[in-house]
Amino acid sequence: MKPREVFITAAIVLILLIAGISTFWKPILWSLLFFLPIIMVGIFDMIQKKHTIKNNFPVIGHFRYLLEAFRPEIQQYFVETDIEGTPVNRMFRSLIYSRAKNQNDTTPFGTKSNVYKVGYECMTHSMYPKKQDELDQNPRIMIGGKDCKQPYNSSILNISAMSFGALSQNAVLALNKGAKLGGFAHNTGEGGISPYHLEGRGDLIWQVGTGYFGCRTADGNFCKDTFKKNVLQENVKMIEIKLSQGAKPGHGGILPAAKNTEEIAKIRDVKPFTDVHSPPYHNAFNDAEGLMYFVQQLRELSNGKPVGFKLCVGSKEEFFEVCEAMQKTKTSPDFITIDGGEGGTGAAPVEFSNSLGLPLREGLSFVVDTLKKYSLKNEIKVIASGKVFSSFHMIRLMALGADGINSARGMMMAIGCIQALQCNTNKCPVGVATQNKSLMKGLDVNEKYIRVANYHKNIIHSFVEMLAAAGLTASNEIQRKHILHRTGANKLVSYQELYAETV
Ligand SMILES: Cc1cc2nc3c(=O)[nH]c(=O)nc-3n(C[C@H](O)[C@H](O)[C@H](O)COP(=O)(O)O)c2cc1C
Ligand code: SF4
Repeated sequence: MKPREVFITAAIVLILLIAGISTFWKPILWSLLFFLPIIMVGIFDMIQKKHTIKNNFPVIGHFRYLLEAFRPEIQQYFVETDIEGTPVNRMFRSLIYSRAKNQNDTTPFGTKSNVYKVGYECMTHSMYPKKQDELDQNPRIMIGGKDCKQPYNSSILNISAMSFGALSQNAVLALNKGAKLGGFAHNTGEGGISPYHLEGRGDLIWQVGTGYFGCRTADGNFCKDTFKKNVLQENVKMIEIKLSQGAKPGHGGILPAAKNTEEIAKIRDVKPFTDVHSPPYHNAFNDAEGLMYFVQQLRELSNGKPVGFKLCVGSKEEFFEVCEAMQKTKTSPDFITIDGGEGGTGAAPVEFSNSLGLPLREGLSFVVDTLKKYSLKNEIKVIASGKVFSSFHMIRLMALGADGINSARGMMMAIGCIQALQCNTNKCPVGVATQNKSLMKGLDVNEKYIRVANYHKNIIHSFVEMLAAAGLTASNEIQRKHILHRTGANKLVSYQELYAETV
C-alpha cells in the first residue's frame, strides 16, 4: 500500500470508529478536535502540488521539514565534536564565551587537536622565555604615514567593519561601549555612522563604501561637504575606504525600500522608503592613481586623519599597479586592511562566499611582500581580518607581516552570537544581527559591553603570554620562522618556507 492510500484508509477507519463509539459514548466526539485538523492537513497535502514529499507522504512528510528546520541546532548540540563546526568550531566558541565572561579559559588533560594531522600548526617556543610581566601588557601600534597629521595610537586588535543595519542597535551600542571601556577601536562598516556608534564614545574607524553612506550626493556620488562634517567628529579616528570584503568581493548591495526606514535613511543620507543601490565599484575613482588621489582628498578633508583601504586580494597585477601609483603620486595610504576569502558577512551569494577572493594567508603574505619590494612597508601598517578567535590566530597573521588584527565574528560571539546562522533572515535569536525590536531587546547592552572589553583584554593577555613563551618582547619581533605547519605525516614546515617571498 502506498503512503497516500495508508493515510486515506486510516482517516476513514478512524472516522467510522469514532462515529460508531459515539452512538453509546458521546464524549469520544471530543477527540475529533485533535484528529480532524490532522486529517485536514493530510487532505491539503494531497491537493497541493508545491511539495512532492508532502504530496506523496501526507502528514508525516511534515517531519522532514521540521527536522530540516532544526538541523543546525541538532548538528550543533548533538552531533558536532569540539573541533568541528563551521565557520567557528565549538572549541573556539567556548573559548570566546569564557574569555568574554572572564571565566576559566584553561583546558584539562591535553590538546584535543590531532597534532599529526596535515594542516596542524604551532608556534616555536624558546628555551629562554621572557618574564611576562616585563612585557608591555597593552601592545599598541601607531598608524599614520608621512602625510598624516593625526596619527592614531591603535590597539593591535580592533572590531572589524559591521554596519548598523547588518547588526542591531543594541549590538552596535554594546560593541562601541566595549571598545571605549577596553581602549580599542570600532569600525562602523559601510552603513555610515549611526547614533549608536556615537553614544558609547568609543574610537571609530569610519568605513566609506561604494554607497558613500553618510557622505553622498542625491545621485549617489561622493559628497565632500557631508564627508567633512562627519569626519571631523572627535570619535572618528581613522577612515577606511572599502574596496572589497572577502565574503563577497566585487559584489554590490541593495538596501530594499522596506528596510530603508526614516532612521536608516537619515544615517545613510538617502531618501527613506526607496531602494538604494551600492554598486560593486567606486564612482569617485576607477584606477590605481585615482584611488591614491581619493586617499589624499579624504586625508585633506579630515585635517590629516589616517586614511586606508580594505580589500580582499584578487588580481595581483592590480595590486602591483597600486604600489606603482603610490610611487608615482607620492601618496600612500596610512594602512591597508586585508580580508580573506574566509571572511564573514550578514548575507552574500554562495558562489561569492565560497569561490571568490584569495584566502587571507595568501593575500596577506602577498601584500606584505609586495609592499616590501616597493619599499613601502615602513610607511603603511597592514591590518588583517579573517577567523581570528585566539591569540595564536593573531600571532600567525603577524608572522606573515600583519601589524594589527580586526575581528568581526569573534566580537559578535562576545556579545552572545550562538552561530545560529540566521543573520540573513532578520530572525537572529539572540538579537545581534536583526532589526526585529523584540528579538533585539533580549541583548542587554549593560551586560554585553563588559563582555566585549573582557574578551579583548583576555585575548591580549594570552597574546602577551605567548610572546613571552617564544622569548619575544614585542609583536613586531614575530617572524615567519616562528610558525610551523604540518604538510605531511612526518613533515613540519615553517611559514618562512611555506610563504617564501615570491614577489
Ligand atoms: C554581520 C557582518 C557584517 C559585515 N559588514 C561588513 C561591512 O559593512 N564592511 C566590510 O568591509 N566588512 C563587513 N564584514 C566583514 C568583516 O568586517 C570581516 O572583514 C570578516 O568577517 C572577517 O573577519 P572575521 O573572520 O573576524 O569575521 C561583515 C561581517 C559580518 C559577520
Ligand atoms: S546568532 Fe545571530 S548573529 Fe549569530 S550567527 Fe545566528 S543569526 Fe547570526
